[in-house]
Amino acid sequence: MVKNEELSPSTQDSNQVKKMTISKICCLGAGYVGGPTCCIIAQQCPDIQVTVVDKSAERIAAWNSKELPIYEPGLAEVVEQCRGKNLIFSTDIESAIKSADIIFICVNTPTKTFGMGCGKAADLKYVELAARMIAETVEEGSGMKIVVEKSTVPVRAAESIGNILKHNVKQNVSYQILSNPEFLAEGTAVKDLLSPDRVLIGGEETAEGQMAVDALASVYKQWVPEERIITMNTWSSELSKLAANAFLAQRISSINSISAVCEATGADVSEVARAIGRDTRIGPKFLQASVGFGGSCFQKDILNLVYISECLNLPEVAEYWNQVVSFNTFQRSRFARKVVESLFNTVTDKKICILGFAFKKNTGRVAKGDTRESAAIYVSKHLLEEGAHLSIYDPKVSASQVKFDLEDPDKPEQFKRLVTCHKDPYEAAEKAHALVICTDWDEFVTLDYKRIFDGMAKPAFLFDGRKMLDHQKLMKMGFHVETIGTRLSQSSGPADARVESPFLPAPCPHIN
Ligand code: UDX
Ligand code: UDX
Repeated sequence: MVKNEELSPSTQDSNQVKKMTISKICCLGAGYVGGPTCCIIAQQCPDIQVTVVDKSAERIAAWNSKELPIYEPGLAEVVEQCRGKNLIFSTDIESAIKSADIIFICVNTPTKTFGMGCGKAADLKYVELAARMIAETVEEGSGMKIVVEKSTVPVRAAESIGNILKHNVKQNVSYQILSNPEFLAEGTAVKDLLSPDRVLIGGEETAEGQMAVDALASVYKQWVPEERIITMNTWSSELSKLAANAFLAQRISSINSISAVCEATGADVSEVARAIGRDTRIGPKFLQASVGFGGSCFQKDILNLVYISECLNLPEVAEYWNQVVSFNTFQRSRFARKVVESLFNTVTDKKICILGFAFKKNTGRVAKGDTRESAAIYVSKHLLEEGAHLSIYDPKVSASQVKFDLEDPDKPEQFKRLVTCHKDPYEAAEKAHALVICTDWDEFVTLDYKRIFDGMAKPAFLFDGRKMLDHQKLMKMGFHVETIGTRLSQSSGPADARVESPFLPAPCPHIN
């Protein structure tokens, strides 16, 4: 606990005060970032009153119910333990702002869909709205308020927040703006928050800035070892978040690029990943070749970095990072093309069963898995354009979400005619010409593939976009199997599985 050595923030004078005691935190935005983060703060800091507010009454009602708006392993238990004690979910945004020592901004920052920076730049309208609301709501004489940007933002966004606040400041109020980006991944949010690799806090390089940084650090120190709390200037902290996501995504695009070479040469990308990952300078994580990365952050943050680089007149830097995203697009369409080519170059009117629609396993906004930027969307759209009938099964994603993601407003009849969603994987696979695995849900490993095979049209194709199944076993069963980064020899299966694909790449002249 922080010792109450000096004055509380509401009565401080910046020349005298060296330490602030934090007793109330308010969080604007009860989404994937704000919700879990505040739950863990409340659990780990029983003396701090944490209030999470959101403009959406529906979302707040969900946080106050048994059906939380987000599914994360362990989260419901934390909410159960703290809700109504030191953890409040509310729509009373004003009261929460007025009484808070620290205000987290956790609103969404989507990619701009129009105007300058369309398709790349982060839209800061909600962050700006939040800053204006803070400026309007904070009362005269409130002393220092610490405003923390947790939403992923472009570099120097804190400056804009600071400008809005400082130009609308009331008497005896001052603001310190900190950057404290969140690194949690969906599906492991509780674990990531309880035991983060690091906590970044960026602040102004002034005495007041330092004091604010220390105050926020004192909150995290209640459960995070001190050496994992890294402080730096605001811009470094903002850039570090974008850079971290860019580096992670770059590893996936890098291994996926190698997967294409493996398929053309007979090398196996899993073996290559194992070999290079043993180099301690490289490390084994994030080297799983796949149908492509998805999720709300990687593409968005890289495009944001690309836009910033373009604005800074650094076109080579922009092009470098843009390639990570372009390659991901290539990987998705390469996989979709492989499906069409293997099925004798046409999927028109063939039934294809898509297993998995979420961008990765264990994601969950309750009742609907998270599909943001999911590779399944891109693969499905490609197959729809080729006239395939898709039967989609995902253990979490709802039919309405699939419709939202796949329906083309210009031709709604296409979706109606070609797409069906199923609650049962066996039903989805019945009479299908091919199974296409897009998400790494654990349950796909233990499905009864013999039963599935028996119900499928022959030859029965299986495309494993996640490299998660026992391919030899499936081929013995009779499947024609294709995957990422390995050229499988179909010789082990029964005769009907040994479909000669005219589309296998030509042997590499340097190798054969
Ligand atoms: C989002 C971004 O995806 C991420 O990059 C950023 O770092 C943080 O915000 P997430 O928490 O997953 O992450 O977004 P979302 O689940 O959409 O939650 C944002 C919440 O803010 C929503 O509940 C929304 O209702 C709320 N909000 C938004 C407000 O309360 N007020 C606003 O003005 C705008
Ligand atoms: C990511 C970052 O990991 C997290 O630190 C940040 O705060 C938000 O963005 P998230 O998008 O939840 O988290 O998921 P992550 O586990 O990083 O996976 C992103 C995508 O990459 C998924 O589609 C996943 O399937 C894919 N992936 C991941 C691979 O294809 N191969 C890998 O080796 C790892």
